Amino acid sequence: MSGRVAVVTGGAGGIGTEISKRLASEGYRVVVTCAPVFECPNLDEWKRLRKEEGFDIRVYDCDVTDFTSCKNAMELIEKEVGPVDVLVNCAGITRDAQLKNMTEQNWNDVIDTNLTSAFNVTKQVFVGMLDRGYGRIVNISSINGRKGQFGQANYSAAKAGIHGFTMAIAQEGVRKGVTVNSVSPGYIGTEMVKKIPEEALKKIVAQIPVGRLGRPDEIARVIAFLVHEDAGFITGANIDVNGGQFIH
Ligand code: CAA
Ligand code: NAP
Repeated sequence: MSGRVAVVTGGAGGIGTEISKRLASEGYRVVVTCAPVFECPNLDEWKRLRKEEGFDIRVYDCDVTDFTSCKNAMELIEKEVGPVDVLVNCAGITRDAQLKNMTEQNWNDVIDTNLTSAFNVTKQVFVGMLDRGYGRIVNISSINGRKGQFGQANYSAAKAGIHGFTMAIAQEGVRKGVTVNSVSPGYIGTEMVKKIPEEALKKIVAQIPVGRLGRPDEIARVIAFLVHEDAGFITGANIDVNGGQFIH
């Protein structure tokens, strides 16, 4: 993919790291974005590890909940690295609680970070992709945006919204060489899943027919497939990667 620029939001997270490494291995110039507001506590260590592994991955600040931050970040990336050919909207958070206990803040934070973020970031690069006649966008949704999940009214709503967003803009990009797809991971062994109380997690794993949590690299390989130049006939699609936990 000689030199195409790929931006991965939340690219220093559990799944994002594997996506970034995979795309870098395949020859993309990878840019990871990270939220300054979260202070990216382990970012220096993350950068050191990638360097040690031989990856040249750039990191830019970008709070995906903030439209202006996204505008500034994408402008800077385009100026310093080049026009964005590939965008993976991967940043996300959970604030789980039953609806009876869910606060307005829990709701807004999750909608802002998991859904409005996709608009905030995609908006900055979509027109350029249309003008250049080439683009690949993948939005990370979730099994729980497909089936709903107890304690995740906010997250399930945001991730279901990602499907609508994906299918709508896929239609806007289709005649201009821009594909837009979503990937819906099941439960993957990252920090996000480690936050689930032990007993609840045991019950969830028992419902996964493959018999284990997924691995971030099992998501990364699907992303690499979807953003490949040869994947131009796949658009508006969703790929479930969930160990058989939700088959419909
Ligand atoms: N279906 C039906 N009932 C359930 C249930 C479920 N899935 N989960 C819990 N309950 C019931 C419990 O059995 C319990 O019933 P009793 O009162 O009769 O004993 C009751 O609900 C209360 O359960 P908790 O003590 O767990 O309730 P809580 O309010 O303290 O916590 C919760 C609720 C925060 C949602 C907690 O259950 C939880 O964290 N569950 C996991 C939610 C989840 O799957 N999150 C995914 C995070 S990772 C992610 O989101 C990535 C991704 O995309 C997959
Ligand atoms: P993770 O390790 O917690 O990574 C999430 C990333 O999002 C982190 O890098 C985080 O940055 C970033 N982020 C959070 N808020 C942000 C903001 N306002 N601006 C910019 N970046 C922000 O979680 P993960 O498991 O890799 O999840 C990645 C994506 O996959 C999420 O969209 C998640 O919903 C989705 N997903 C995960 C699973 C799973 O089981 N793990 C399943 C289905 C879907 P900081 O570290 O700086 O906070």
